[in-house]
Amino acid sequence: MRFWAVIPAAGIGARMGVDRPKQYLTLAGRTVLEHSIGPLLAHPAIAAAVVAIRQDDPWWPTLTLRNDARVHTCAGGTERADSVRNALRHLLERGAHNDDWVLVHDAARPCLLAEDLERLIETLKDEHIGGLLAVPVTDTVKRAAGDGRVETTLPRTGLWRAATPQMFRFGPLVHALEVATAEGLLVTDESMAMEHMGHRPLLVASSARNLKITHPSDLPIAERYLECSL
Ligand code: C5P
Repeated sequence: MRFWAVIPAAGIGARMGVDRPKQYLTLAGRTVLEHSIGPLLAHPAIAAAVVAIRQDDPWWPTLTLRNDARVHTCAGGTERADSVRNALRHLLERGAHNDDWVLVHDAARPCLLAEDLERLIETLKDEHIGGLLAVPVTDTVKRAAGDGRVETTLPRTGLWRAATPQMFRFGPLVHALEVATAEGLLVTDESMAMEHMGHRPLLVASSARNLKITHPSDLPIAERYLECSL
């Protein structure tokens, strides 16, 4: 049984409004993508990582990461789930087995702590299906109506914000993503595809610093976190 990392890095990050995809912005001396993949490559259990990148991506070739023998690339897809499926196909060619573990981690999450990764792996490694890092919701959550007014307040007990890595067995994950695609279900994370198959992924508490860079205001926060751990 082996552990593989998959890094979907083929997004364009339109909400950032900058000249390059957010995973190639530099924070604390390295690109967001390098920070994101760092803890996974540093973990002794990870055999190799597949990074899904856009065709004609001009930034990837500038990273020294591409010289790392454990780092491979595959073509990105239209949606995040398509990028992940391509990476899983690549792993199949590299001999991945159904029982192997796959850890899917967003290229835009540069502040993953080694201890959170370690807890995820230790908690899940004897599970059948797997689970994900997630952050318990602490704010009161409102659902908005179309006019921007509150429609309802959701009870926050039991609510979590899904993060990554999401760790699932290779075979069941491939199957779940294939079913989702065949049914036209847009899954925004791997857990959603697994849930659709009737599985119940385990939630593993993550530090809230494991944020996904989405808006420009996230950058200084992520940079501060990264500088604190240098
Ligand atoms: O856009 P969002 O922040 O939700 O993307 C999450 C992750 O999925 C990012 O690392 C992004 O690069 C990746 N992605 C991808 N292929 C796509 C869209 C997003 O690999 N088609």
